[in-house]
Amino acid sequence: MPDPAHEPFIPSNHNIVLVGFMGCGKSTVGREIGLQLNYPLVDTDSLIVENVGLSVAKIFAEHGEGHFRDLETDLIRQIHGMECTNQIISTGGGLPVREENRGWLKKIGYVVWLRAGVDTILERAGKSNHRPLLQTGNPREVVERMLAERDSVYSDVADLVINTDDLDISETVHGIIESASYHFSNY
Ligand code: S3P
Repeated sequence: MPDPAHEPFIPSNHNIVLVGFMGCGKSTVGREIGLQLNYPLVDTDSLIVENVGLSVAKIFAEHGEGHFRDLETDLIRQIHGMECTNQIISTGGGLPVREENRGWLKKIGYVVWLRAGVDTILERAGKSNHRPLLQTGNPREVVERMLAERDSVYSDVADLVINTDDLDISETVHGIIESASYHFSNY
C-alpha cells in the first residue's frame, strides 16, 4: 500500500504522456503509473480501435497507413481540446512523427520517452502479430531503420528520457513519478 505521507506531489491539472517505439513498454508502464497515482490511462491505439471498430492491423490493411495517421492526428487534437487533467496518455509509436502531433503532445502534458534498444524491442514486440509494421521477413532490419529515423522525433518532443533496457517496470515507473513530481512542482 502506498504511504500517503510519502506520496509524490502531482498537481491536479497535469498529464503524463508516454512516447516511444513499439514494444518499449508504454502500455504496461502507463497502466502501473495509473494505478499508483489513481489516474486513468488513455491509450491512443485502443481509442482508435474502439472508434473505428477495426484492429490497427485491419485499419492499415483496409484503409492504408496514411488513414491511420490521420486518425491519430484527429484524436490527439481532440484529447488536447478536451483539456483533460490527471491522465496518463500512452501513444502509438508513430504518433509523434508528425510535427503537428508533437506540438499537441507538448501542450497536453509532461512527455516521457521510454527508450529501448533493438534487442529489447524485438524481444518485447516481436512475439505479437498485431503490429503491421513489424510483419516483415526481417524485423531487425526494419526496427533498426525506423529507430534511426525516429530517435530525433522522440528526442524533440520529450521532457524526460528513460533508458528502459536495464530497468524493470517498477524502476521505470518510480523514475517517471519522481521526475514528473519535480517537474510539476517547479511551475
Ligand atoms: C506504430 C505503433 C503501434 C501502432 C501501429 C503503428 C508505429 O503502437 O500505433 O502499429 O508506427 O510505431 P505501439 O507503439 O503501441 O505498438
